[in-house]
Amino acid sequence: MLWSVLPLIFPSVFAAQPSAPAPISAPLRDLEYGQLNFLHTTDTHGWLAGHLHEPSYSADWGDYISFSLRIREKVEAKGQDLLVIDTGDRVEGNGLYDSSIPKGIYLSEILRHQHIDILTSGNHELYQQNTSKNELLTTVPNFRGHYLSSNIDIYHPKTNELVPLAPRYKKFTTQLQGIRIVAFGFLFNFNGNYNNTVVQPVEKTIQESWFQEAIQDKEVDLFLVAGHVPAHSPEYRAIFKAIRKVHWATPIQFFGGHQHIRDYAQYDSRAFALASGRFMETIGFASIDGLSTSSQPSVASSPVFKRRYIDNNLFSFYHHTGLDQDTFPTEKGREVTQMITDARSALSLDTVFGCAPRNLWMTRVPYNDPDSIYNWLATEVLPQALKDESRGDSPAVAILNSGGIRFDIFKGEFTRDSAFIISPFPNKFRYVKDVPYDKVQLIMTVLNQQAKIVSTSEDENPYIHELGTPGQSHADGDYEEEETNKATEETRPLIIDGAGSHQAPLWAKRSDNPDIFPGYTTKDDAGTDGDDTIHSPVKNYMVPNCIQGHIPGNKTALSETVDLVYIEFLEPFLVLAGKFAQLDVDFINESEEYMSGVQLTDLITTWVGDNWKCDE
Ligand SMILES: *[C@@H]1O[C@H](CO)[C@@H](O)[C@H](O)[C@H]1NC(C)=O
Ligand SMILES: *[C@@H]1O[C@H](CO)[C@@H](O)[C@H](O)[C@H]1NC(C)=O
Ligand SMILES: *[C@@H]1O[C@H](CO)[C@@H](O)[C@H](O)[C@H]1NC(C)=O
Ligand SMILES: *[C@@H]1O[C@H](CO)[C@@H](O)[C@H](O)[C@H]1NC(C)=O
Repeated sequence: MLWSVLPLIFPSVFAAQPSAPAPISAPLRDLEYGQLNFLHTTDTHGWLAGHLHEPSYSADWGDYISFSLRIREKVEAKGQDLLVIDTGDRVEGNGLYDSSIPKGIYLSEILRHQHIDILTSGNHELYQQNTSKNELLTTVPNFRGHYLSSNIDIYHPKTNELVPLAPRYKKFTTQLQGIRIVAFGFLFNFNGNYNNTVVQPVEKTIQESWFQEAIQDKEVDLFLVAGHVPAHSPEYRAIFKAIRKVHWATPIQFFGGHQHIRDYAQYDSRAFALASGRFMETIGFASIDGLSTSSQPSVASSPVFKRRYIDNNLFSFYHHTGLDQDTFPTEKGREVTQMITDARSALSLDTVFGCAPRNLWMTRVPYNDPDSIYNWLATEVLPQALKDESRGDSPAVAILNSGGIRFDIFKGEFTRDSAFIISPFPNKFRYVKDVPYDKVQLIMTVLNQQAKIVSTSEDENPYIHELGTPGQSHADGDYEEEETNKATEETRPLIIDGAGSHQAPLWAKRSDNPDIFPGYTTKDDAGTDGDDTIHSPVKNYMVPNCIQGHIPGNKTALSETVDLVYIEFLEPFLVLAGKFAQLDVDFINESEEYMSGVQLTDLITTWVGDNWKCDE
């Protein structure tokens, strides 16, 4: 049997963050090592403290550092090699990054302590001028010799010259076996970057002479393509084809990300791509056996590729290293865990606004369920907290895009950290007055039927991927469409079945086997045995692009006209939807701020403070 049940509950945690829950024992599949082994993170978005409400993902960056050091000891003892990869979107999405002034000062210090062999930039590193500047002046030097940027240039802030963000590629040999590797670092064809950077389309980049020369190299045992690029993507297919034109059989290992899913793509029997989820939920593992090396340049056997998605918690880490709470931690790992604790404390991320009486889910329940975060916003927060005194008794309808909410709320303390996690985006409210109520409903219908609007919006806003929730426009588990939810039908074709799922807290246990609790149940090109932890599946429901709250809740629908209030991000979409609805309103010129200076996040924290008391 590949997995073993360890009926062990850890009494306490000796690493991880002090407030992190202890991991839960569960049946695990082992790692299958090879000549060359990889650990991979992607789309960490600042979650280096791990998940403080979810046992499955409760290890922090310090624990990950210990894990990679221990795995390195283990594989090197057998004469094998290990490479550590990160494929970008390290920034934006968690208070550890977003709440410092300036942003990211603690994060970049914490990050640099991990030894990373190849790292690349994501799109989030490029939205703001100062974020990409920080990459160039801080992260690239911190990881000198390891940061690769095959298709990103930046106007140097001092010379104003257009220069590569980092070297285009590198060739190196592994320490123990002398495996000769040519490595690249790509970003998908992204055009929402600020104009101080230039992202060249992948298809164009691979025609450039430096790339063509790099792949002409005959003394290569493996092409390693790291990138912030989906595992299944036209960009990776183009790179695969370009390399195969020159080398019909040289193994190619891709690492990707961006879609926030666990995924594994097979391009041919010697070319595979691994994507390792999001938010420090997943540590990706891959291995290759049967590679040639500098001392054995020709091997007859065909290479064997393996993959595993490791749930980021100490139970998994102890199991895979064969160590325990006394033998697993390393000094470096402990120091970094302490750095994270200190940073969280300096940023007051544990400041409590109130206590949530129950879990509120983004997609685990239908959006109009009492346990839906959207239902809570629409029926409680907006009607009770959104009020512009200057509008007197005028009823209003407020529209939010569901994608503005980024995570679930867990029962218990709702902290400054929780606020940054669920609503990290700076977003004020605007309104136009005297809009016929039936036109507002027509606009809602249009907004919720426009898959097209949804799929093109990623590049237009610094933060928000789409109107809807990020998972929905890509692959994110088994979505069940709810009867009451017809308006979202348009977005269904965008969903790829079966890859990845959502997080799995202890209290959601509802499987017949008590050892198996809900979590990722990934289906990918290699089958259904990729996840290290054996979970029962989590249900996910479709969420509309936009939701509406009535203010006050009881009178609005009876009024002929209302104030149409909306989160400012939605303005360009409302301009379009207004045209469809034949509403004669100039949103750009006629709208005004509603509740001047107040942001959605403020509204939520104020409401929580007023309504969710903590029992002493
Ligand atoms: C970039 O500038 C904005 C606005 O001044 C500031 O809030 C943010 O902290 C800066 N970010 C970084 C990474 O320096
Ligand atoms: C970039 O955009 C800013 C306005 O946001 C503009 O002032 C500047 O000239 C632009 N720079 C380039 C190189 O196009
Ligand atoms: C309508 O709602 C407002 C505020 O939510 C409340 O003050 C008022 O009493 C309600 N009126 C009725 C008739 O329920
Ligand atoms: C809105 O304002 C812009 C400039 O302020 C102007 O060019 C445009 O014509 C205005 N639109 C309408 C419909 O008045």
